Amino acid sequence: MQFVEAHGARIPTIGLGTMTLKEDICVQAVKNALQMGYHHLDTAAHYGNEKENGEGFRASGARREDVFICTKVRQGDLNPDDFQRVIDQSLVNLKLPYVDLLLIHWNNKDIPFKVSVGSLCKAKKDGKTRHVGVANFTTTMLDEAWAVTSEPLVCNQIEMHPFINQDKVLAASKKHGMAIVAYCPIARGKVPGADALERIGKAHGKTAAQVSLRYLVQRGVCAIPRTGTPDHLKQNLDVFDFELSDGEMAELKKLNATNMRVVNPPHAPVWDTP
Ligand SMILES: NC(=O)c1ccc[n+]([C@@H]2O[C@H](COP(=O)([O-])OP(=O)(O)OC[C@H]3O[C@@H](n4cnc5c(N)ncnc54)[C@H](OP(=O)(O)O)[C@@H]3O)[C@@H](O)[C@H]2O)c1
Repeated sequence: MQFVEAHGARIPTIGLGTMTLKEDICVQAVKNALQMGYHHLDTAAHYGNEKENGEGFRASGARREDVFICTKVRQGDLNPDDFQRVIDQSLVNLKLPYVDLLLIHWNNKDIPFKVSVGSLCKAKKDGKTRHVGVANFTTTMLDEAWAVTSEPLVCNQIEMHPFINQDKVLAASKKHGMAIVAYCPIARGKVPGADALERIGKAHGKTAAQVSLRYLVQRGVCAIPRTGTPDHLKQNLDVFDFELSDGEMAELKKLNATNMRVVNPPHAPVWDTP
């Protein structure tokens, strides 16, 4: 198993994204993933599947200390009372006393960082999470959050795949010693079929999805691909036995200019320009 380390957190490089996986499909995906060697699960209060993540974890027989579990609190719940209620409910859903990583899922521009990040840090001080971090934070938001936080923010979870340029936020996160966790690492299904990724994959006996994940791993970031398909689960973990050449990495990096952002809801911040 490989990890990305940041501020004392050891985050398994590949995790299972579970957004949209519901009911028994989610339970089975989580169980299968942990039994085939995954050690990292990504859920959120908003996904409505924390209960199923917990069930899948217990059904897998995995030891608690071997699984890194992340959940998130949304922008409407960042004031202290709401935050505490939501994380308490997440722990009830998961049937766990603590998670490994708790993230602010999306910032709320109407709530000062002192308050939202304060709520986040309190959850850690109360023993509800081992580590805290953020998601969808821009370079400016990172600086502002770090200026007020009492606990290290161990990661920034952001959209990352070959079709988007995230160099600025990557550099800003690294400046703060944070890990990057890449969501939509196969561009929500747009990676399979893409010419360059298919061609590079063929040369290594791998699929385009595996090339995208390998590109992220070689850039030093974690990735949390989502799938309920057993064959894809296996593929997505099987990215540590080949290496992309400097030329292949450069070709994939050039695709960043496509600038395709898959996730851009109305509550998104003003993103850093490439
Ligand atoms: N923090 C945030 O704001 C945020 C936002 C978005 C997502 N996330 C997290 O990131 C996770 C991943 O992002 P995502 O679910 O949006 O997109 P994604 O993982 O990039 O793409 C998922 C899609 O790719 C397909 N797929 C997976 N593995 C494949 C493979 N090996 N070959 C071919 N197709 C494959 C899946 O279909 P099959 O099921 O058929 O395999 C699914 O349709 C989410 O589940 C969630 O946990 C976080």
